[in-house]
Amino acid sequence: MGDTTFSVGGKTVCITGASSGIGRHLASHLAGQGANVLAVARRQDALADWEQSTTGNVASVAADLGDIENISAIGDKIAAHFGDVDILINAAGLNPRLHASEINPAQWQQTIDINLSASFFLAQKFVPAMQAKGWGRVINFASLQSRRAFANGIAYGASKGGVEQMTRAMAEAWSSTGIGCNAIAPGFFPTELTAKVFDDADLAKKNADQTCIGRNGKLRDLEGPVMFLASPASDYVTGQVLFVDGGFTAK
Ligand SMILES: NC(=O)c1ccc[n+]([C@@H]2O[C@H](COP(=O)([O-])OP(=O)(O)OC[C@H]3O[C@@H](n4cnc5c(N)ncnc54)[C@H](OP(=O)(O)O)[C@@H]3O)[C@@H](O)[C@H]2O)c1
Repeated sequence: MGDTTFSVGGKTVCITGASSGIGRHLASHLAGQGANVLAVARRQDALADWEQSTTGNVASVAADLGDIENISAIGDKIAAHFGDVDILINAAGLNPRLHASEINPAQWQQTIDINLSASFFLAQKFVPAMQAKGWGRVINFASLQSRRAFANGIAYGASKGGVEQMTRAMAEAWSSTGIGCNAIAPGFFPTELTAKVFDDADLAKKNADQTCIGRNGKLRDLEGPVMFLASPASDYVTGQVLFVDGGFTAK
């Protein structure tokens, strides 16, 4: 048997937001690395398309994670496919891009529900089975807006600031029982979420110029970081936010 330091082979991964963008890309990558991958999002057609185009042991559950009261039942449906989840990756997210003067309570609440609350209650659902095995992972998605204020980012920024602190609090609660709890904070990556940013060539260039490396992210730039945080390679790393941003926040 080879070195398993960076391996997810045979582990069961639940990844939300897998119908699109970062979640979809990482779901395929993890399946290619030998994990059993259970994908979650609302769009059934997009999930079916992902399953068809992905090699490996994959399945999906179509669910609205905004239905917070129903998260436990959604978790049961997820666990029915490959059994207990070893690695939870909370990549579902939304950004209403509304100014502080405009956002209404429903839009605010939906942003907090998807970006923050759903991630917590899914983790709360799956952690006991991880604890029974003495090993598990929760990987949340933070953002540049966990630490930077952007225009029209009031609800998104509040939710992502929350993700950063929630990740530390999860580590405090669960890491003594073998659960690594960390977050990835991406810079600018081209997905549905950032279409408005990348459609504006001047803005995309401005963001690229703000990085130390001099370009925006490519989805494959997230593969190594997620493999690190999902595998035994990060056994002594918890409560951390790994900025995968080309050095955006270093400048
Ligand atoms: N792209 C970037 O540059 C960037 C930068 C920083 C942070 N992030 C974070 O990275 C994560 C992934 O973003 P992305 O760029 O890949 O976005 P994306 O392409 O827009 O994907 C968002 C995903 O979230 C799912 N989702 C949204 N609302 C949902 C709901 N109510 N129930 C279930 N699933 C829901 C969507 O699926 P359905 O529509 O099918 O439900 C979709 O699969 C997010 O947390 C985002 O905040 C991204």
